[in-house]
Amino acid sequence: MEKFLVSGNATISGTVTVSGAKNAALPIMAAALLASSGRVELSNVPDLNDIKTISKLMESLGATVTRGEGTATIDSTNIDEPTAPYELVKTMRASVLVLGPLLARLGEAKVSFPGGCAIGSRPVDLHLKGLEAMGAQIEIEDGYIVAKAPAGGLKGAEVHFDVVSVGATENVLMAAALARGTTVLRNSAREPEVVDLCHFLNAMGADISGIGTDTLTINGVAALTGCDYRVVADRIEAGTFLVAAAATRGSVTLLNAAPDTMAVVLHKLREAGADIRIDETTIHLDMHGKRPKAVDIHTAPHPEFPTDMQSQFLAMNSVSEGSATVVETIFENRLVAAQEMNRMGADIHLEGNRAQVRGVESLKAAPVMATDLRASASLVIAGLVAEGETLIDRIYHIDRGYEKIESKFAELGATIKRIS
Ligand code: UD1
Repeated sequence: MEKFLVSGNATISGTVTVSGAKNAALPIMAAALLASSGRVELSNVPDLNDIKTISKLMESLGATVTRGEGTATIDSTNIDEPTAPYELVKTMRASVLVLGPLLARLGEAKVSFPGGCAIGSRPVDLHLKGLEAMGAQIEIEDGYIVAKAPAGGLKGAEVHFDVVSVGATENVLMAAALARGTTVLRNSAREPEVVDLCHFLNAMGADISGIGTDTLTINGVAALTGCDYRVVADRIEAGTFLVAAAATRGSVTLLNAAPDTMAVVLHKLREAGADIRIDETTIHLDMHGKRPKAVDIHTAPHPEFPTDMQSQFLAMNSVSEGSATVVETIFENRLVAAQEMNRMGADIHLEGNRAQVRGVESLKAAPVMATDLRASASLVIAGLVAEGETLIDRIYHIDRGYEKIESKFAELGATIKRIS
């Protein structure tokens, strides 16, 4: 199993280009299954293991997916297989996003039930309820979600999500694009990746309004066609580089970023003492050599603080001036990286979904274990600020969601070695 050896006492400084967003590219690729004619030509697609997984899954459904440098060309004209097998779904929970598109396009879908994962139980009840409201018959058989559309296809419906869910909003939205009549989704997720999916669906010929609000109105259309589309920049990757620069008292310029999708993260970094300047696609952060100040974090659905940035801020807080409270409200097990950071000398006290962090002067290298994608990124940040060389085990998590992370950090003056 591959590991990272992170050299400590680093100061992040330099310029790096942000990749396309994994969490936008995945649903957009799933949504490409809805196009019954023409080809979908995507650009700004990150080169990640999760993108390879969804490409494989789409091919197993009868689509053709051709990857180029930052591009994906998808032809779903002849899809005919409604089954998303366990082998592919188990490696990536987001595979469940093919459920809505398959059901809308083929009238049936059989998708392996995604299991729990390291960060929490993550059920799919809201996905299923939304599709049932549109007339789908859903059974759970042998670990599979078996869904059938009514004769004549899915019908528009009023859906109210009890909990704000990115995946459920996306799955039901994609199905509604081809349903008969109008669907109204209330208490929808407003994450920038959901917004990007809406714009992509409209580019394919869908009729979605209320984009960016918690009420989406979808007038179903008879068919969708291929289109050209550029995936939005990855706000989590961008935020990870910014926090790494802030924690190491450095400075960084991000190109190809989408600062308008990151308001609360930029606000928190300013509160930590960062000098930040932005224009439309560039973010420049400079700590002017100062130690960051600890900042309170409370995760919640967009536009509040994103859960996917919580553990990186935990790492920064652990070496900041002062104390802070970090509260995780979205996923129950998402503070586990704190225990690994404590092994490196951090002073983090966990109580349920709350972490009380007292900033220490510096961390000390130790062998640590990555437990999920974003926790892995936070351990890289902890390794960069520590004294000595930190060995991070189980980095396959990182490769699911960060493109060329070692070479990008190398551009910023850090040394991260991949070792087998
Ligand atoms: C997506 C992101 C993930 C991010 C998360 C929250 C992708 C591929 N992943 O995950 O990186 O951390 O949004 O921003 O885009 N819930 C239910 N029932 C459901 C569905 C969800 O109770 O049917 C709950 C979950 O347990 C969780 C909350 O809703 O507590 C939010 O989860 P959700 O927004 O659905 O996360 P994902 O779409 O899985």
